[in-house]
Amino acid sequence: MQAAGRARVFFALWPDAPVRRGLAQLAVEARTECGGRATPSDKIHLTLVFVGDIERSRIAALKACAAPIDAQPFELELDALGWWRHNRIVWAGAKRCPSAIVALVAALSANVAGLGIAVDDRPYVPHVTLVRNARGAPKQLLMAPLVWRARELVLVESVSGAGGSRYEVIAKWPFGASV
Ligand code: 2AM
Repeated sequence: MQAAGRARVFFALWPDAPVRRGLAQLAVEARTECGGRATPSDKIHLTLVFVGDIERSRIAALKACAAPIDAQPFELELDALGWWRHNRIVWAGAKRCPSAIVALVAALSANVAGLGIAVDDRPYVPHVTLVRNARGAPKQLLMAPLVWRARELVLVESVSGAGGSRYEVIAKWPFGASV
């Protein structure tokens, strides 16, 4: 459970319904092959910057980190599956990371770090977690490409409860809004 007055938050891209359905279907297939827990459709997302556990009173400042970012809608082609041994997740990713994502992650990370909040400084690897606690990689690591048209940036709170965690979008910034 989250301590009172604190929130676990992250910036993300949230797919539209068709992409979410496609990824949720892949998650079920990967779970059948690799075991573990498939991510349900309503939780499928791509994290840009994981902020972590912060004082709830800092959320306004965090929102101000995203407000000046001026991005246009862009396409992300998800075309590869993978498995990481260290955290046992099966993920869907992109062989080519769009420059728009690289720019968004850099701008957000710099702004968040400017608040004195430590952000991950490892190279960013865009991935959508499909299965947690998987025992190994799927045999087939290619997937029929899913084209995701990213239209907005979101700030999400991961709310933990008795039945596990749920994600609540707490703010949105549509891309291209300044045009
Ligand atoms: P994951 O799917 O690879 O576990 C909410 O937990 C989101 O934040 C998930 O996308 C999760 O990535 C990501 N996340 C959780 N802890 C993180 C950490 N310490 N560093 C980077 N991303 C993290």
